[in-house]
Amino acid sequence: MPGARELGSTGRAVGPIGLGCMGMSWGYAESARDDRQSVQVIRDAVEAGAELIDTALVYGDGHNERLVGEALGTTGRAGDGPLRDRVVLATKGGLVVDDLATKSMHRDGRPASLTSQADASLTRLEVDHIDLYYLHRVDPAVPVEESWAALADLVTAGKIRWLGLSEVTIDQAEAVHRIHPVTAVQSELSLWTRDALGETQTADGGAGLDDAVAGAGTGTDAGGNMLAWTRDRGASFVPFAPLGRGYLTGTLAPGEFEETDFRAANSRFTAEAFRRNRAITDAVAEIAQRQDATPAQVSLAWLLGLSDNIIPIPGTRSGRHLRENLAASDLVLSGEERQALDELPTAFGTRY
Ligand SMILES: NC(=O)c1ccc[n+]([C@@H]2O[C@H](COP(=O)([O-])OP(=O)(O)OC[C@H]3O[C@@H](n4cnc5c(N)ncnc54)[C@H](OP(=O)(O)O)[C@@H]3O)[C@@H](O)[C@H]2O)c1
Repeated sequence: MPGARELGSTGRAVGPIGLGCMGMSWGYAESARDDRQSVQVIRDAVEAGAELIDTALVYGDGHNERLVGEALGTTGRAGDGPLRDRVVLATKGGLVVDDLATKSMHRDGRPASLTSQADASLTRLEVDHIDLYYLHRVDPAVPVEESWAALADLVTAGKIRWLGLSEVTIDQAEAVHRIHPVTAVQSELSLWTRDALGETQTADGGAGLDDAVAGAGTGTDAGGNMLAWTRDRGASFVPFAPLGRGYLTGTLAPGEFEETDFRAANSRFTAEAFRRNRAITDAVAEIAQRQDATPAQVSLAWLLGLSDNIIPIPGTRSGRHLRENLAASDLVLSGEERQALDELPTAFGTRY
């Protein structure tokens, strides 16, 4: 795959853009879910060179892992073995659903619980090992070193190949890296959310969509330049919500989110926020027009250009959007365009 990037220091190269599967089961308009289409999108993604496939236990309380397992269990079009063998299959534990209807959940990083969470993920994904397993959130009731040591034991047992973290502080990442290498850090990073670059763009503390939905608490402080930390330690940085949950594509409008959609209650998706953040989408759209590209592609190209260790995982349920997003790796922004994007105003509204 042209432009392939090494996953951490594993020696395993993957296509520069992966696929986030969350929205197929969780977070966005439930009425628009279509499992059959989602399975097809995952298969098409792999065939088109997306080799980092991202899911989590919490996305629909296992529903998303089952979709991914079904999609990857089949053979590719060229008949060259199961799609599963062509990807880095990434899932996450440490966030557990209490009630799917209300989307209430809690953090659970206790060692024995993480072990059984990972075992259940193996079953749902229908695989004998998970390539990349993230600690989805640090459980404030459990020292992160204890959670990490349990995951390291699962590596020794052959159930997991590599370990990652999501939305942690640099101190937490440093502490666990001493126990077992961090292969990837997954945190929010996009043109309108740059906390991971050490820019305090937003006023919120960074709870995460995954636990912001209900009750799992905050306690995540993204302070410092996490991207630089990953680069220094030979880890990948995997930006989640690289399209600003769709906002940066310029295709969304206020008031169009159904009640089950995370964005319906988020301060960046109010009518006022759309008005005040207009300069961001306008600037991205202008560059897209000049480049004969789309705003989604400009957003992803900006991320890829930040550092060679970045592998974004845009989420989509649409085959057309998938193709558009993967083609972003061919887009080269000029120095002037990058500078204009670097200087975009701070976003109005908080991440959560
Ligand atoms: N670690 C964490 O705590 C965490 C938190 C959130 C997300 N994640 C991961 O990161 C992945 C990506 O984040 P995300 O899905 O929340 O946000 P995102 O990738 O920034 O945006 C997804 C939204 O953009 C739309 N979209 C995608 N491509 C488009 C295009 N080319 N043109 C127009 N609209 C487009 C999608 O709608 P369509 O389906 O219609 O394309 C969807 O509504 C998730 O799937 C998940 O795997 C991790």
